[in-house]
Amino acid sequence: MNRKVTVVGGAGNVGATVARAIAQKELADVVIVDIADTKAAGVALDIYQSCPIEGSASRVIGVGTKDFSESANSDVVVITSGVPRKPGMSRDDLLSVNYKIMQDVTAEIVKHSPNCIIVPVANPLDAMSQAVFRLSKFPRERVIGMAGVLDSARMRAFLAEELQVSPADISCFVLGGHGDTMVPLARFSTVAGVPITELLSAERIEAISARTASGGAEITKLVGTSAWYAPGASAAAMVEAILKDSRRVMPCSVYLEGEYGINNLFVGVPVKLGARGVEQIIEISLTDVERAALHKSAASVRELVDVIKV
Ligand code: 2OP
Repeated sequence: MNRKVTVVGGAGNVGATVARAIAQKELADVVIVDIADTKAAGVALDIYQSCPIEGSASRVIGVGTKDFSESANSDVVVITSGVPRKPGMSRDDLLSVNYKIMQDVTAEIVKHSPNCIIVPVANPLDAMSQAVFRLSKFPRERVIGMAGVLDSARMRAFLAEELQVSPADISCFVLGGHGDTMVPLARFSTVAGVPITELLSAERIEAISARTASGGAEITKLVGTSAWYAPGASAAAMVEAILKDSRRVMPCSVYLEGEYGINNLFVGVPVKLGARGVEQIIEISLTDVERAALHKSAASVRELVDVIKV
């Protein structure tokens, strides 16, 4: 195939899920790079052997981090490396250890794929995206953090369950940082175009919003480590929108330069995704309450960014 996607940390749960989804959809050839080199080779081989069954001609290889050159000239690089959460840990607890990993992998990505679009997935997501942005020195259009797609998917799933309708008809927007302060926007969450505020009581919306905000922790508590199926599917959906230049509007963590009154900070907002990465940051008008919640969430991202000074 003439498109290439590298998944750094691709032998881990999230990475392998992203790699598999991309290969399954035949979006590109996939290079899995992982510090666990033999595992990377094995996971890649397993995914590759699933391709004949799926009817996909994608090629999949797995290499160690010493062989980053195999990833050369990737169109998109997804960074899933990093330490996952354990029960009781917040995403923010991973800050310094994952920052060190971002330093190592970003240097290699820039060296081998200077024109790629980077999709960071490591936590704490917004701060890691900002770190990758600063370290890569890429234009802001080419560093796009995965968070809002996942958070919105969780909200869609909970609403589908609550209302007993297909999630295909549900559209949700969750803005802000990928943490406890994320901002599910009920007004812009709809079922076949009908705002959920018309369909559910304020109490039920509040409960679903709260469950969305702690959606990652709920799974971590049950499984003993971070979630991977929904995070992996979310990153793959972003890669698909980029490779197909489909201009899908998705909530993603991007570097704001005054949009929503926020400056020089990665925060989740709706963006149009296409071949150039962020084609447009879409500004929607918020109520005072929504805006205050977004700014509170941005302030908690700023605290983390200040600790690692990026
Ligand atoms: C989650 O929310 C891993 O941050 C990710 O599940």
